[in-house]
Amino acid sequence: MFSREWESDPRPTYQQLHDTGPVHRVTLPSGSRAWLVTRHEDASAALANPSLIKDPLRFGKRSRGILSTLPDRLRTVLFRNILEMDPPEHTRVRKLVARPFSAARISRRLADVETRAVAMVDALPEREPVDIVRAFCSPYPLRIVCDLLGVPDSEESRLRVQRWARVLNAGHAADAGAYVECAGEAMAYLEELVALKRREPGDDLASAMVASQEEEDGLSPEEVIGTLFMLILAGHESTAHLLSMSLLELARDPELRRDLAEHPELLPNAAEEMLRYTSPVKLAPWRYAAHDLALAGTDIRAGEGVMVGVAAANMDPAVFPGPGRLDIRRAEAVRHLSFGRGIHFCLGAQLAKMEAAAAFRAVLNRFPDFTLAIAADSIEWQRGAMIRGPLALPLVFGSR
Ligand code: HEM
Repeated sequence: MFSREWESDPRPTYQQLHDTGPVHRVTLPSGSRAWLVTRHEDASAALANPSLIKDPLRFGKRSRGILSTLPDRLRTVLFRNILEMDPPEHTRVRKLVARPFSAARISRRLADVETRAVAMVDALPEREPVDIVRAFCSPYPLRIVCDLLGVPDSEESRLRVQRWARVLNAGHAADAGAYVECAGEAMAYLEELVALKRREPGDDLASAMVASQEEEDGLSPEEVIGTLFMLILAGHESTAHLLSMSLLELARDPELRRDLAEHPELLPNAAEEMLRYTSPVKLAPWRYAAHDLALAGTDIRAGEGVMVGVAAANMDPAVFPGPGRLDIRRAEAVRHLSFGRGIHFCLGAQLAKMEAAAAFRAVLNRFPDFTLAIAADSIEWQRGAMIRGPLALPLVFGSR
């Protein structure tokens, strides 16, 4: 587990894990030890288990690796967010952040999302290799999340956010000096954004969060910055990986492209199946046992780390027959755990699915044919245990 082979194709390892037992003791690339839950039923139960808590400070766990290189203020403001909170703090903050993510508000953005997708796909060069990660998969969801938050749509703003988001997303693989510098830039940028929204509020999420500071139990200034930061990173990286891995599958399979182009009514289920099959988030972020407990018959001690293997659960043959087959008509595709489950269920799930369906539609309408420009085994994959996706993906659009 966690080898280079696993990073490029983790599916065979998941098969072995399912065959050998429900809970495994693992050492993560960072050196930390944890329990890993892999079967769908157990993973689902673990994600919804209130005795598996998120706040690392409850057990005096301190930041390790690259996070520990950050000055205290940057670390505690930027990296303290709802993903690391437990009730009642989580309940209060999630309620405030969830409001603008209501199904009705998100569906109102469909036309904007489609327009962005079509414009960016139309600008792709033809008949020459283009790194689709840089040209589309990364900037498109970043722009959408920035639109949602109310980040100004200027060249200057776009370049600033892109720069620090790229370096900070690289996490442990980033250069430590650049990481600290970019965290400082992110903080300065978000402080400016908050000041702008206070002066000139708009119909956007950043303005709503700033306004919530006035409410009883509203967000604190640090929580506003931390949440904006988390939304920019969480709202674009995993979606970018979903898109690039889906385009890789489409590039390799002309029959799949044709089928989806001829049956656009399958787009929503295709997005669910791509989420299951590609699983951009391999492991849900850390949880800790609040007290001694048992998970699927394994004793876990208070304070021990538990990782929920959502990607492994998505390959569980007990729920997904023939899990290694990508099938856009798969009836049970929606049962994937790619967005988690329970109180931390992804707030951006509906948005991400909408973005994916719009992207597939835009690409297939414009380019019935596209191919991978390099051998599949020379693709470089993102390092690390948590997220899966290619660092670059050269594709050629249009017939050569
Ligand atoms: C394909 C794209 C995405 C995937 C695979 C994904 C995956 C996940 C997962 C697995 C969780 C749960 C983590 C846990 O239980 O510990 C989560 C939480 C979250 N996601 Fe996403 N996400 C995606 C896109 C987005 C987008 C577009 C946004 C916002 C614009 C977003 C915002 C959030 C937030 C705010 C949480 C925290 C919820 C909480 O802790 O209460 N995500 N996501």
